[in-house]
Amino acid sequence: MPLAAPLGLFHHACRRALPLAMATALAAGLAAPCPAIAQGKTAAPLPHIERTKSGAMLVVDGAPFLMLGAQANNSSNYPAPLKQVWPTIDAMSANTLEIPVAWEQIEPREGQFDFSWVDHLLGEARQHNKRLVLLWFATWKNTAPAYAPEWVKLNPVRFPHMLTSKGEVHYAMSPLGTETLKADTRAFATLMRHLRQADPQNTVIMVQVENEVGSYGNVRDFSPQAQKLFDGPAPTTLLKHYGKPAGQSWAKAFGSDADEYFQAWYVASYINTVALAGKAEKALPMYANAALASAFGRQAATTYSSGGPVHHVIDIYKLAAPALDLVAPDIYNHDEKAVAAYLGFYGRPDNPLMVPEIGNSTEYARFFWDALGKGTIGFSPFGMDQTGYFNYPLGARALDGSLNGFARIYRLFAPMQSVWAKAGAQGLVRAAGEPIDPAAKHTRELTLGRYKATLGFGQHQFGFDPPAGNTQPTGGAALAQLGPDEFLITGFDTRVTLALADPAPGESLLLLRAEEGHYEPDGEGGQRWVFDRVWNGDQIDYGFNFSGLPQVLRVRYARIKGNAVIPVGADH
Ligand code: DGJ
Repeated sequence: MPLAAPLGLFHHACRRALPLAMATALAAGLAAPCPAIAQGKTAAPLPHIERTKSGAMLVVDGAPFLMLGAQANNSSNYPAPLKQVWPTIDAMSANTLEIPVAWEQIEPREGQFDFSWVDHLLGEARQHNKRLVLLWFATWKNTAPAYAPEWVKLNPVRFPHMLTSKGEVHYAMSPLGTETLKADTRAFATLMRHLRQADPQNTVIMVQVENEVGSYGNVRDFSPQAQKLFDGPAPTTLLKHYGKPAGQSWAKAFGSDADEYFQAWYVASYINTVALAGKAEKALPMYANAALASAFGRQAATTYSSGGPVHHVIDIYKLAAPALDLVAPDIYNHDEKAVAAYLGFYGRPDNPLMVPEIGNSTEYARFFWDALGKGTIGFSPFGMDQTGYFNYPLGARALDGSLNGFARIYRLFAPMQSVWAKAGAQGLVRAAGEPIDPAAKHTRELTLGRYKATLGFGQHQFGFDPPAGNTQPTGGAALAQLGPDEFLITGFDTRVTLALADPAPGESLLLLRAEEGHYEPDGEGGQRWVFDRVWNGDQIDYGFNFSGLPQVLRVRYARIKGNAVIPVGADH
């Protein structure tokens, strides 16, 4: 039975106090299990991304927020399929649903707006206590105008497509279509104005502008208008950035990259105009997602989404689209080396890392840990609903009872996401998932301050057997440094062993306390640590062995030299 608590009722399963009505509904089985976070009913501070010296964090309701997201399938953006979305989102303890709002949906006839879908979505998200990331499917969705309204699709004279180098009409819209830009911008701004009025509590925390922009099979627009621009000087800021003389043409300045850079510049500029107009109405964080190019080497630009924010044109997006808070990788490659490369490409001091899409099959769940370790502000497997569609072989054939391994990770982090978001932004988090590359020998090494953590996968909990790997690569662990000799540690299917990274002669470590506990709301919008037990004896003799249970440790060490305890903070 829930116990009375200052905020309402303390709910044991949710491990926190809930408003009375919600706790009662939960007890009666009427509400979704363990709502992610309370959303106020009155105007709240705008969600924003805060940059720090060592990272970035998303701030929601004034508090650090790690987006434990899930993206619905493309056509789940109607009230009927939405019913098949919530059970998955609730069951996986996601705190955020990413879902499309299509241009065709809100402006079916030019100038006539219909926000019934948006309002329906807002209402249900609040009932389920989830936040939303809206995906603006408009001029480009996977590079095509499929989600544009009919009045746009049927008027290619007013809303021009690109031309190929052979002068043929290409399927993708031209980024130089001034009428297209005007119409898309107006629709998006109207959507954001609607959010300003209909969403004072900021259920929507972020907006994706377009979806996987660029074009396949045509490196750039070859229309006469585009060609004229291409033959003229490249933009001064771009030339300056790449150390080229002012006034140089695209071809002269960028050689074999010129076509793609040109396309990236104009697509990014287009998105910037759309985003800027939206932000003028409601300044939510905004981003563009990328259909990725190969992480290693350069393919022909016609084989990937040329002009989209692929990793080698991030600089161009930074220059041409300053209204975007970030560009982000859609990861559908489960080669761990490629994933590591993408996380590195997109997590930059000027570009907070966020993973807005990742495949939803089991082998992708372990990359949550890698993304966390790289300071991600959010993570979101794609296709998380029960509408019966699966994008196999990109993602899963089906979702199993564990929601392909994502659910336990989100359940573990949901009560303490803010703690990790804050520590991540301070550069105090290290984390890694289980590698399958034999060269890694089923281990990962992480360094935090003076400490080195070794993650071992596939070891018994007792004894010093070498890591053999888990049957499936389900392992992963994370550490947050709480003080010079104190850590918060969690993980699944992983042994975590701490040692001094660079001990002075005779220096050794003494484990003082390994406390298992959990986080609960502190009643002031934060979380407080609650003690459950001390791990000692077998539970620490062979490292910290995380099983499949949701366990969180706070561990504290002393450093010893001979008979002396080295004072906290002292160097050797
Ligand atoms: C990436 C896109 O952004 C998604 O909308 C979806 O089409 C997936 N690819 C494939 O399922």
